[in-house]
Amino acid sequence: MEGFIFDLDGVIVDTAKYHYLAWKHLADELGIPFSEEDNERFKGVSRKRCLEILLEMGGLSVSAGQFDTWLKEKNEDYLSYIKQMDASEILPDVHKVLDYLLEREVPMALGSASKNARPILEKVGLLSYFETIVDGNEVVRAKPDPQVFLLAAERLGVPPERCVVFEDALAGIEAANAAGMMSIGIGDPGVLTEADRVFTDFTEIDLEYIRGLLSAGQ
Ligand code: BG6
Ligand code: MG
Repeated sequence: MEGFIFDLDGVIVDTAKYHYLAWKHLADELGIPFSEEDNERFKGVSRKRCLEILLEMGGLSVSAGQFDTWLKEKNEDYLSYIKQMDASEILPDVHKVLDYLLEREVPMALGSASKNARPILEKVGLLSYFETIVDGNEVVRAKPDPQVFLLAAERLGVPPERCVVFEDALAGIEAANAAGMMSIGIGDPGVLTEADRVFTDFTEIDLEYIRGLLSAGQ
């Protein structure tokens, strides 16, 4: 493996909980029941698509103006949570893996559906780790479409089959698989069933394992 691509929310930082809280807030306001289980469908999915799913769940159809107002409301709520973010919100042992790769000059990319990816990386001090950042501002076709990861690989100059993707969302694992990349799930193996390999979190990932990925096939 020559290129490492990381999702952001729920992989590098624990922002998945803030997305959930902001959606839950809006769902409560609209009288739509919304559980953490429902939220699994929102992981890796664009903001716009999340709202479409929420409204489908509530059987609501609304004007374009109202749709945009709620979209804005959700994002403002989310931004209020991430305003205070700092390096302490980086998930355990993520630094261990990123530092290992950085020291070996292995090309790394971020591949996220979020339009807030860049400011979050800045806040937690990880912006400089990534050679390229592909985020929700650039990608037209959202995960599970492979576009985000294919663009990341192209910018890294690494063929897709030599890239490995770290993802916490089922849609993201599907996107990585569709891109012809190796998919590593971070989270529940019962949810991320299509991943090539699943770890509960980065504390389970041994640096020997990463070393093995880098030398495999050589
Ligand atoms: C993904 C999250 O990373 O980004 C989704 O997993 C979220 O839950 C999506 O909806 C879009 O994020 P944002 O920050 O642009 O609203
Ligand atoms: Mg994610």
